[in-house]
Amino acid sequence: MTATTAPAPAPMARLTDLRPSHDDIAGDVLEGLSASPKQLPSKYFYDARGSELFEAITRQPEYYLTRVEIALLDARMDAIARAVGAHAHVVEYGSGSGRKTAQLLEGLRDPVAYTPIEIDRGTLLASTARLAEAFPQIEMLPVCADFSRPVELPRPGRATGHTLVFFPGSTLGNFDHPGAIELMRSMRATMGARGQALIGIDLDKDSATLEAAYNDAAGVTAAFTLNLLTRLNRELGSDFELDGFRHHAVYARERGRIETFLVSRHEQSVIVAGRDFRFAAGEAMLVEYSHKYTDAGLAGLAQVAGLTVVEGWNDPRDWFGLRLLQPA
Ligand code: TRP
Repeated sequence: MTATTAPAPAPMARLTDLRPSHDDIAGDVLEGLSASPKQLPSKYFYDARGSELFEAITRQPEYYLTRVEIALLDARMDAIARAVGAHAHVVEYGSGSGRKTAQLLEGLRDPVAYTPIEIDRGTLLASTARLAEAFPQIEMLPVCADFSRPVELPRPGRATGHTLVFFPGSTLGNFDHPGAIELMRSMRATMGARGQALIGIDLDKDSATLEAAYNDAAGVTAAFTLNLLTRLNRELGSDFELDGFRHHAVYARERGRIETFLVSRHEQSVIVAGRDFRFAAGEAMLVEYSHKYTDAGLAGLAQVAGLTVVEGWNDPRDWFGLRLLQPA
């Protein structure tokens, strides 16, 4: 992989393109459908429509995660800023709507630079351009790369104290435990010996609250998961019938995670990339995990990855937490 520097997309923004390898959507889907039980890769949720539907999920009354995390960042920003210290180079894994990023950049003490790491070049440039406008004093150093691997960070023009990796939204929870450990190991490599990470985690709680968050009454989450089939039909020429499957999300307490499925409503066969896949009536296809954490659980994963939890902040109901980690 060679780094190339493209023309500046926005004032003070210099793109580092590490040329992440292109997604193999057909290969990933065929592999998942050949597994038993069947699964679909959740990384393909976020096409344009999927990203729109996800934004709509965050506004549903049952989906407390985004609201609680935003309120928590707001309420505890002074303490967070003190713990992080001045002149950080903020590195974000994935770029979402930028709302929480803006809160963090606004609240920290004189952050020097901001590096979103994102695999989709268009999404990366659009979100960087918005933030560049809001924070002209912060150097924007976007990197187009796969954040699950260690990334050599671009060097800011001004001297920086250290690197702070920001990973909100309980996105860590979408990885199984081995995946989460591997991701935290990469994070440790990317942040360096004096680095830190600020991670948002959804906390273990009663099943009713959790299941409501992933089965909103308006059906937005169902539309979001079913949109994956629409995307596959469009991009792979598959013939999934949208009303042949229903969304189902359940809290598996013994495994500490919401498990989201698409369930076949009746016996059927679907053609994907020229291959025939049979579904029994009621057969469930796994599409996503959303792990919910206890402090002991997170500390255990972090430890295996060579990180240690140094501070933490929860909302008043202990529904959602922010944790500050550093190399052990
Ligand atoms: N990171 C989010 C979460 O786990 C993503 C998400 C929200 C999601 N609702 C979903 C993923 C429904 C799959 C299905 O909460």
